[in-house]
Amino acid sequence: MTNFKITSFAAAILIIAACHSKKKTTITTTTVASAATPAKSTTGIFEPGEEELMAVKTKFPDATLPILTEGHAIYTGVCADCHKAKSIYRIPEEKWQGIIDRMAPKATISASQKDALTKYVFSIKATQPK
Ligand code: HEC
Repeated sequence: MTNFKITSFAAAILIIAACHSKKKTTITTTTVASAATPAKSTTGIFEPGEEELMAVKTKFPDATLPILTEGHAIYTGVCADCHKAKSIYRIPEEKWQGIIDRMAPKATISASQKDALTKYVFSIKATQPK
């Protein structure tokens, strides 16, 4: 009888030890998984925010968030009718004005829509990660 008690006591210690080491592993895994940070986009096509507005104001002081938002809607709307919306990041900054001048008549957008589109594109270029 005494022998049996000792055996079950030893078994209980083993179980506790096993559970304890399992718990440790779980905690480590959770810490690693939560370290990921969200990325904006790899193409530069996303809803502009305060960061984009502040960055584009050096080039266009009269830019506003509603103007940039309108530009984004045009870029993902009528500018994506013939082809998919092209990566803004992939095209060098100095090429953009010429492309917009060439594409605006194709899309038959108004002068103010072209203005909004231009401000949006340059706000994205101004905040492009190096
Ligand atoms: C009527 C169809 C049509 C519409 C609308 C259109 N595109 Fe295009 N786009 C084209 C074609 C065709 C090409 C490829 C030939 C070329 O570069 O001219 C092109 C090429 C491009 C390129 C690549 C140019 C390069 O040199 O790599 C970009 C960027 C682009 N379009 C942006 C836009 C934007 C911004 C708008 C909205 C203002 C727009 N497109 C609207 C037809 C269109």
